[in-house]
Amino acid sequence: MPILTDISILYTCPLDGTQDHVSPIEDAAIAWSDGIITWVGPKEEMPAELSEGLAHSANGNVVIPGLIDCHTHLCFGGWRADEFEMRIKGQSYLEIARAGGGIRKTMRQTREATDEVLIEHGLGSLAGMASLGVTTVECKSGYGLSLEAELRQLRIYKQLLSLQPLELVSTFLGGHIVPPEYENDRDGYINLLCNELIPAVAEEGLAEFCDVFVEESAFVQVEAERILKTGQAFGLRSKLHVDQLSDGDGAALAARMDAMSADHLEYTTSAGMEAMAQAEVVGVCLPLATLYLGQQPMNARAFVQSGVCVAVATDFNPGSAPSYDLPLAMMLSCTLNQLTPAEALKGATIHAAKAIGREHLIGSIEVGKQADLALLNVLDVNDWMYHFRPNACTGTYIRGVSQN
Ligand code: NIG
Ligand code: FE
Repeated sequence: MPILTDISILYTCPLDGTQDHVSPIEDAAIAWSDGIITWVGPKEEMPAELSEGLAHSANGNVVIPGLIDCHTHLCFGGWRADEFEMRIKGQSYLEIARAGGGIRKTMRQTREATDEVLIEHGLGSLAGMASLGVTTVECKSGYGLSLEAELRQLRIYKQLLSLQPLELVSTFLGGHIVPPEYENDRDGYINLLCNELIPAVAEEGLAEFCDVFVEESAFVQVEAERILKTGQAFGLRSKLHVDQLSDGDGAALAARMDAMSADHLEYTTSAGMEAMAQAEVVGVCLPLATLYLGQQPMNARAFVQSGVCVAVATDFNPGSAPSYDLPLAMMLSCTLNQLTPAEALKGATIHAAKAIGREHLIGSIEVGKQADLALLNVLDVNDWMYHFRPNACTGTYIRGVSQN
């Protein structure tokens, strides 16, 4: 049975109803068998028979659960650096979108890209994420926006899963925007989503979740409800992009739809937070998108105080968040959203696992969970977030296998 020792501090991050109890163990050890943790605790308490196992050393590093990026738009063609400059010069995200840029531009570039290019690009991003300590990534469709192009994005995720070690969890986001072909026939597009695409996604087992972007430039609540209910009827649990650019009462919608998570939440009111807490919807904080679009930050502190489990993710995409750096997003969730470093750590581990329905498998270091681990060359979690370095991660394990 392999063991990992020489761990300065092990942050176990249990799901215990708190945002900040990361349950550290000093001078810790972990043992696992077939990729599943069988023992964890202070090294001096390790049963003698375990110390005969194949020994790995953490070299005095801190160890945390493998990071989970629970919100990305991983597969896309091209970039939008021109829009970055346009926004700096004063144009808004919505103005650029109305002029044919934004999600529409990435839709065109994604449709034009070959499978090979998209796979190559996805593999590069995943390798970069892995080097930062990430072991699981949620990835959305939503840049195809036609029957074939949406299925292709999700099939690419299946291929990417088989080509590299990170775990991928797919979400169908056909409800990202209404594509230009249906500009004057919104219902026609929603019919396509509900009558053809969702059944095809479910039949081919291409996604676990169904997501909708509720915003002025995207979908209204009644449309989102129809799409999400259809998804639920086909076994896809709901997620939502809400209250990102304005208060669209999206948190209440997420609660009503019994969503796994509601994401963005920059403009959510305290009533919306209460509704999410009641319905146990995870609130996903995406500070990179807030920062790139110059929005007011999500009040993550108030969400925590309302009893919502807060997760932290990158929202990696070519428009609002062109970075897959999850530790950077965590640091920003401290400086912009008032999470403490420990709270951000739970946000990118066990609460992120809950946002993708994997909290029984990953996200904490406990007996029975996968041995997904990240090693960090830092003094402790405060030091990690405060003295921010290009990359503190020195190695990862996925299901007990060292990735270095
Ligand atoms: O999560 N809000 C909608 N979707 C993405 C942005 C996608 C894009 O700009 O291409 C987001 O921020
Ligand atoms: Fe997003």
